[in-house]
Amino acid sequence: MIKPDAVANGHAGAILDRIIKGGYKIVAMKYTTLSADIAGKFYEIHKERPFYGELVNFMSSGPIVAAILEKDNAVEDFRTFIGATDPSKADAGTIRADFAKSIDANAIHGSDSNENANIEGNFFFSQFERF
Ligand code: CMP
Repeated sequence: MIKPDAVANGHAGAILDRIIKGGYKIVAMKYTTLSADIAGKFYEIHKERPFYGELVNFMSSGPIVAAILEKDNAVEDFRTFIGATDPSKADAGTIRADFAKSIDANAIHGSDSNENANIEGNFFFSQFERF
C-alpha cells in the first residue's frame, strides 16, 4: 500500500515505477481512500499498540494505492526493497529512505509474512479484481 503521505506528495508514480522495475508484477491495484473504520480493521493486529490511534488517523487522512504484487520470494524481498519502518534507519536507495518523512508518514506498507499478504490482499481485492 502506498500511504497517504506519498500519494499527497506526488510520489505514487515514482514508487510504482520502482516497484515494476524492481521485478514485481502488479496482479491487482486500486486508488482509494480508507475510512477510519476500514483503516482500523486493516491494522487491527496493532490495536493494542500505543501508535494505533495515530496510525488509523493518518491512514484515513487521504487517498492510498493498494496493490497485490507477485515475484519469487516477494514478501521478504519487498520488505528489504522498501527499507526499515523508521525511514531514518532505512538503507540508502530504498523507497522509505527516498520518499518517507517519519515512522508514521513512511510512504509505503509491505506485508510482513505470506500469511498476512494473503489476508491483506483479500482485504482489498475480490477474485474478479486480480489479473
Ligand atoms: P506499516 O508497515 O504500515 O505497519 C504499521 C505502521 O505503524 C508502520 O508501518 C508505521 O508507519 C506505524 N508506526 C508508528 N509507530 C510505530 C512503531 N513504534 N513501531 C512500528 N510501527 C509504527
